[in-house]
Amino acid sequence: MSTASPIWISDLTHYYNRKQEMPTLDDINLSIPQGQLTALIGRSGCGKSTLLQMVAGLLMPTEGAVRIRAHTVTKPSAKWNMMFQKPSLYPWMTVRENAALGLVFAGTYKHKKDRVEELLDMVGLSEHKDKNVQDLSGGQQQRVALARSLATEPEVLLLDEPFSALDAFTRTALQTEVAQICHDQNITMVLVTHDIEEAVAMADQVVIMSHNPGQIVGEKHIPLDYPRDRNSGEFITLKDELFAEFEKIDQAKQKKPFERLEVPKREVKPPVDDSLQQAS
Ligand SMILES: Nc1ncnc2c1ncn2[C@@H]1O[C@H](COP(=O)(O)OP(=O)(O)OP(=O)(O)O)[C@@H](O)[C@H]1O
Ligand SMILES: [Mg+2]
Repeated sequence: MSTASPIWISDLTHYYNRKQEMPTLDDINLSIPQGQLTALIGRSGCGKSTLLQMVAGLLMPTEGAVRIRAHTVTKPSAKWNMMFQKPSLYPWMTVRENAALGLVFAGTYKHKKDRVEELLDMVGLSEHKDKNVQDLSGGQQQRVALARSLATEPEVLLLDEPFSALDAFTRTALQTEVAQICHDQNITMVLVTHDIEEAVAMADQVVIMSHNPGQIVGEKHIPLDYPRDRNSGEFITLKDELFAEFEKIDQAKQKKPFERLEVPKREVKPPVDDSLQQAS
């Protein structure tokens, strides 16, 4: 697998409605590294989910493009899976059946039955495979959704606040597990969150967004080993630095609530050729 950045977002601007004075997303340029976890953080309404849906091919930008390798994203694909805040499982199906759904749709379940079993074991659901999903806790249901997302062996996994509905204990455990899976299985992950601690706990880099309009106003590398010690001095310092960045943005926005913030133009140069173009 290539080590180049698989996801390129270039000159992306989006208006939901042409009457909007400010775009929802404004001139977004970003490249996302292979096999790493990138967190997108920003206040509610800044456009995080909008941007993630564009990477997933669920929504088209007004201007600019998302490329996954050299392939311009125009529709969803099994190669880039999305996982939402709510697990959206079929309540009348078992854990195994739900986890197998992506493979069943792809027509490959027969040959990949073992993968579903392995994944359910990996996410700690060995004893629940034959249960109906409605008999599981919220955290267990989110694990089923995670197994389902991973079963089709996606190159890219897009996570839109997947843990926000969970209790703190389950959330912390899943944050650690998902970051581990990202690196062990070389899956490129993009995590949307407004939880700064979650971003520092999981991400290799954090991208900071501002609102009205949605802009990328900063980026921070998180150079900590996994699993991360949330009580370590380095962890706390990085968290504090991100909080300070947020305060700075808020102060700037209070002065000029509906204006663009001055940020240096970010350049990304997408590759022109790659195998995924032929594969998709
Ligand atoms: N389908 C839509 N039509 C019109 N406006 C929309 C639509 N979806 C979202 N918006 C608006 O676009 C802006 C960005 O929304 P988005 O859902 O991307 O924000 P977010 O950063 O994910 O917020 P949150 O953290 O609350 O999930 C918001 O002002 C929202 O009201
Ligand atoms: Mg959202």
